[in-house]
Amino acid sequence: MNTSKTIQSKKSQILDKQKKYLWPNHLLYYTEPLPLERGDGMYVWDVEGKKYLDFFGGILTTSVGHNRPEVTRAVQEQTEKMIHSSTLYPNETHVNLAKKMAELAPGKLQVSYFTPSGTDADETAVFLAKGHTGNQEIIALRHGYSGRSAIGMSLTGQSPWRIGGTHILGIKHALNPYCYRCPFKMTYPSCGVACAQDVEDTIKTTTSGRIAAFIAEPIQGVGGFIVPPPEYFKIVKEIVESYEGLFIADEVQTGFGRTGDKWFGIEHWGVEPDIMTMAKSIANGFPLANTITTPEIAESTRCAGLTISTFGGNPVSCAASLATMEVLEKEATPQHNARVGNMLRNGLEKMKEKYSFIGDVRGMGMMQGLELVKDRAGKEPCTEATAQLFEATRELGLLIGKGGMYGNVIRISPPMTATEEDVAVALDLLEKALGKVRV
Ligand SMILES: Cc1ncc(COP(=O)(O)O)c(C=O)c1O
Repeated sequence: MNTSKTIQSKKSQILDKQKKYLWPNHLLYYTEPLPLERGDGMYVWDVEGKKYLDFFGGILTTSVGHNRPEVTRAVQEQTEKMIHSSTLYPNETHVNLAKKMAELAPGKLQVSYFTPSGTDADETAVFLAKGHTGNQEIIALRHGYSGRSAIGMSLTGQSPWRIGGTHILGIKHALNPYCYRCPFKMTYPSCGVACAQDVEDTIKTTTSGRIAAFIAEPIQGVGGFIVPPPEYFKIVKEIVESYEGLFIADEVQTGFGRTGDKWFGIEHWGVEPDIMTMAKSIANGFPLANTITTPEIAESTRCAGLTISTFGGNPVSCAASLATMEVLEKEATPQHNARVGNMLRNGLEKMKEKYSFIGDVRGMGMMQGLELVKDRAGKEPCTEATAQLFEATRELGLLIGKGGMYGNVIRISPPMTATEEDVAVALDLLEKALGKVRV
């Protein structure tokens, strides 16, 4: 039997079916899309058996590595007991996970509502804030990303992700704290963090003056790993409170130690959110998300009417999440992520010294980005460099991500169980790939 021919045909069969039976607006990486077949730890294999070091972790989701035995075992055990019963009946994994979330979350955030996706979690946060405050308007940030529902797309501040005409009224976008491309063309710190003041200007000029909430990611993820100035969120929280709004921290990408040193990104900025949403890393790839809030705010849902999420709090996803949390606490603590992330960052900074098309290196912990530009003075986004770097890293066996409003930000976010040795291998491959870029 000619195996290579059989494997070859498997790849083209997958690509043919993808083209024929799936909507064309699925974003696929690489000139020729890459069908993956299996994973183990930090590595994945494609259908032709080629091995790749995964430094994007299924979009920051495979938090403790592929096929992690503790997670697989917990899922198998739960699957054999019960896959689904619905939240009409209390379930041990569901309540245990809620308790774990209360232990990890900062401040008074204690009470959870689980759903299957980050979009759901953000949507749940928005209706909670509206119900609690009695106000209707929401402030989001330009370059932010909140998901693919009507509310999710309306909260999102990037045109490529706001598809056709589904928009919800009453959502306004303030300028984002994007120091590399400051919307005011100023420089930190002499700018006086003018972007934070823009939240107040947006409330005053585009709303009734009474808002339900402000929602933001502690570090913008899809927007290109944009890190705000340290005082930004503190100033914004005071403004938001003075207009009756709740503060929603969208931790879908930044949660569970990703940013290093703290369990949640917002903790770096000295702000206690009223509501926090989380997903991605929560269950190592099982569909699960959470909206957590204070008991006082949750109380306002009691008389608001009924709500159910059929797949929310699914026992298999909750079991996967509990096992994921155990591995994180043992092996990939926020301190581990700070240390290993620091090594990754130092390596990237060295590459910036060598390659003039790297305009900015930014991020925190295990969430680091490179913004690629035509030249450092003009800062014009260089998507050609992104495209070449993607093909070169694929060829060399390294998976990375991309993002940014202009599609020119390389996103590097491995499973948080990555070690210094894994980072050294990734940096070596990335360096070789950067050397192949001709722009
Ligand atoms: C910050 C943020 N919020 C919300 C979402 C939506 O999550 P999901 O794709 O699970 O619906 C995402 C997804 O990338 C995200 O990055």
